[in-house]
Amino acid sequence: MVDYEVTVYTGDRLNSTTWNPVHIKLVGTDGESKRTWLRSLVIFSGSVSTYFVSCPNSLGQLVLIELDKRQFFLLPDDAWFPDKVEIKSPERDIYTFPIYCWINNSETHRFREGKALRIFDESNFLGQHARKQELIHRSVDYGWNLFYSGIPYTIKADGPTSLPNELQFSFTKTTEFAFTAVTGLAELQLKGLDDNRENWESLDNINDIFRFKGTLISDYVQEHWKEDGLFAYQFLNGVHPTLIQRCKTLPKNFPVTDDMVFIPDGSNLSQELKEGNIYLCDYKNLDGMPANTIQGIQQYLMAPLVLLHKRPDDKLMPIAIQLKQTPAEDNPIFLPTDSTYDWLTAKIFVRSADFAEHQINAHLLRTHLLAEVFVVSLLRNVPMVHPLYKLLIPHTRYTLHINELSRTQLVGPNGVFTKAAASGGEALMKIMARSMSSITYRSLCLPDNIADRDMQDLPNFHYRDDGLQLWNIIFKYVQGVIQYYYKSDDEVQQDSELQTWIWDIFNYGFLSEPQTGIPQVFATVPELIKFVTMLLFNSSGQHAAVNNGQYDYGRWMPNTPPTLQRPPPTAKGTTSEATMLQTLPPINVTVRGMVAVRVLSTQSSDFVTLGHYPEEHFTEEFPRQLQKEFKVELDRLSITINNRNKGLEIPYTYLNPKMIENSVAI
Ligand code: FE2
Repeated sequence: MVDYEVTVYTGDRLNSTTWNPVHIKLVGTDGESKRTWLRSLVIFSGSVSTYFVSCPNSLGQLVLIELDKRQFFLLPDDAWFPDKVEIKSPERDIYTFPIYCWINNSETHRFREGKALRIFDESNFLGQHARKQELIHRSVDYGWNLFYSGIPYTIKADGPTSLPNELQFSFTKTTEFAFTAVTGLAELQLKGLDDNRENWESLDNINDIFRFKGTLISDYVQEHWKEDGLFAYQFLNGVHPTLIQRCKTLPKNFPVTDDMVFIPDGSNLSQELKEGNIYLCDYKNLDGMPANTIQGIQQYLMAPLVLLHKRPDDKLMPIAIQLKQTPAEDNPIFLPTDSTYDWLTAKIFVRSADFAEHQINAHLLRTHLLAEVFVVSLLRNVPMVHPLYKLLIPHTRYTLHINELSRTQLVGPNGVFTKAAASGGEALMKIMARSMSSITYRSLCLPDNIADRDMQDLPNFHYRDDGLQLWNIIFKYVQGVIQYYYKSDDEVQQDSELQTWIWDIFNYGFLSEPQTGIPQVFATVPELIKFVTMLLFNSSGQHAAVNNGQYDYGRWMPNTPPTLQRPPPTAKGTTSEATMLQTLPPINVTVRGMVAVRVLSTQSSDFVTLGHYPEEHFTEEFPRQLQKEFKVELDRLSITINNRNKGLEIPYTYLNPKMIENSVAI
């Protein structure tokens, strides 16, 4: 007889202890062990326990293990979370089997040895069979669903509680609870205001309610929100830094003339356009969208155009605003020289449109929904033993769950978006479907995106500066891992799992539209590296850039009104403080919006920082070393950003790696 020493590491998560008997079977190239009971009455959370499995002969190279946990007599069925199993063979070889998932049923679960294997590395029939079975199982568990025509497919599920078991259990209840508006209302001490339908009587009134709930930046925003400087700054370093672009020729539907706008130092608009000092924000996506009705009152959503000028002192300032796309007498071009409330009202309508464009296109569609496509395609097409799975799985944590929660609690019929945003309800999906037409592969790759927007050299564009550094660090890490496993383009082409993975993404995420430029196949190693970098960047840094500042810039509602309840002025000289207050959302709608942005900006208690890999899916030394180097480089970037921020009036922290989560998880 020979003995195998089996060490079981159980995760230290809440409720990961099992009282149910657990059995193991070892499967090797020369045979398999008997299904053997791990002789424990209970396997505790956080425990490391060693057992012995005896076999008549050596099993050869270990290929996989089978684990099962059966409910026993009167004991309650429970969920067990093993981290990994280590096995010392009679030949004194050590095999590691990463698990990191919940086992909460009595089925037999197979886990492969940790060395990453591509499909053509599988020399053993048992490995090939296990690989196939795993994907068959997964393609059933992780189906595609057409949630709305014209937007990316989502996972097939009827809400968070119908997600596959392994995902449901992985999501902590506290995080789920924190997601509910009730918690936010209590936390912000706003109970009682959520059914007050009155309009705000004054800005001081708003201040009285929200005075003590600020952050450093939200307090700054409250103080400076009327200023043109902050209005322009937010296009660069607020929560929506992806719309602004350099403008060399004015759009035909935005007829601003030289004599309309004041340019200091004797220059004029034509000259500044030529010199590349003019920038544009165009909300054409929102044109003609049906604005929501909230509490029986028609809301208003504009599709503005904003022109900005980079002054000789490098400061960006707005110089003209047109609130609707079609030029007309009743669609004036507002200017900083107009009356205080005309100009301020125009800016408020822009900020409200920006809320819609930011939330629906930049945040929900381009990070949350695309991340979901990346996760579902990975789980359907790539087995656990594949290097790509090991590389990407830490960057998928909670994404499916949070998106399912969003579909019910944010954008569903009773969701806060439907009850508080002009772009909620019917408009939301229409805006998202239209936004799909602007999605290209280049727009998802930050270096290309910045080049296409011609934004390479505008000073004080911290999102760009930090984002490009982050992109390069992620690229280097991904390149290291991919080049370790793929030595030639041939190997990439031969990997049928990689090819079905990208095909699924093209098909279900980008609706088979070739003009998006999304790869349909991978032909070369560099193509694969670029795509995986894009995926990892958008699921981590880009999401942080458009997510984490929502409360900073949204807490002071007049700076980011989620909805407006009066039409925009159709002539100059018709606005006042009173019309502005009547235009802003009423008290309860303000409160709902604020609670939502608060909840969505709050770091969860089990936040996993970018580049931290508490789960060791890679067991080989080289990729683990690359992960360590990745973390060192991220730490270095964090220090650089902190030092830069010391000299800034408004620190830009959203792309500080310490504030970025590994995945889209909130
Ligand atoms: Fe988010």
